[in-house]
Amino acid sequence: MIRLNNVTLTFPDGDSHITAVDHVSLTAHPGTVTGITGPSGSGKSSLLAVAATLIRPDSGQVFIDDVDATTLDAREATDLRRDTIGIVFQQSNLLPSLTAHEQLSVMNELGSKHSKRTRSLAATRADELLDAVGLGDQRGKRPHQLSGGQRQRINIARALMNEPRVLLVDEPTSALDQERGASIIELILNLTDQMNTATLLVTHDLVHLPRMHGVVQLVDGKLSQATPAAA
Ligand SMILES: Nc1ncnc2c1ncn2[C@@H]1O[C@H](COP(=O)(O)OP(=O)(O)O)[C@@H](O)[C@H]1O
Ligand SMILES: [Mg+2]
Repeated sequence: MIRLNNVTLTFPDGDSHITAVDHVSLTAHPGTVTGITGPSGSGKSSLLAVAATLIRPDSGQVFIDDVDATTLDAREATDLRRDTIGIVFQQSNLLPSLTAHEQLSVMNELGSKHSKRTRSLAATRADELLDAVGLGDQRGKRPHQLSGGQRQRINIARALMNEPRVLLVDEPTSALDQERGASIIELILNLTDQMNTATLLVTHDLVHLPRMHGVVQLVDGKLSQATPAAA
């Protein structure tokens, strides 16, 4: 579960400041996708960065299950992020020289806990996830040999490597055509169900919203409308 409680985030702007996120509260439960929509500049990516514990808000709390991430120091937040949060950023940041399989398995090398055993578990998990995103037969391909949609699938698979409780995805369809975009949304809905993640999915593409369990809209950093999660 992820719960944002009355979160406000400002950025300095000359002598003044910009309120990117303005007293936002929202909860997402395991196995559900909450859509976050709103115009450009409304604070969607900022909200996701706070949820990801990458930026500490000015005020409010970010609960990942029972842990208030805003009380953690940088080191603890990094550990929490690695162990419980999967993040898919707007711009794909795959490493050009690595194969699809390596993009995933390298996740095991981050942090402290790698050994021969964890390495082999990571290799197996990478295979399973590449199958789950429909790229089992592309495991040896490098990013330049893959389409935009396939690269996005690898991004999503990579975010799931450490079995996160929370999955955060920023505009995954923005560089894709309608059909490939729809299949990425479909994939995120299916993976959320299979992996039981609490998923926040930012999209400004309204056609996808009816598929989600709940939708919130941001306008000028404020929640302007909230639909409760469907049963
Ligand atoms: N790192 C930053 N420094 C200063 N202002 C920022 C920064 N990131 C975002 N902003 C500002 O915060 C507001 C919300 O931006 P953002 O969260 O990127 O919106 P969205 O993702 O909905 O397009 C905008 O006014 C933007 O200019
Ligand atoms: Mg954004």
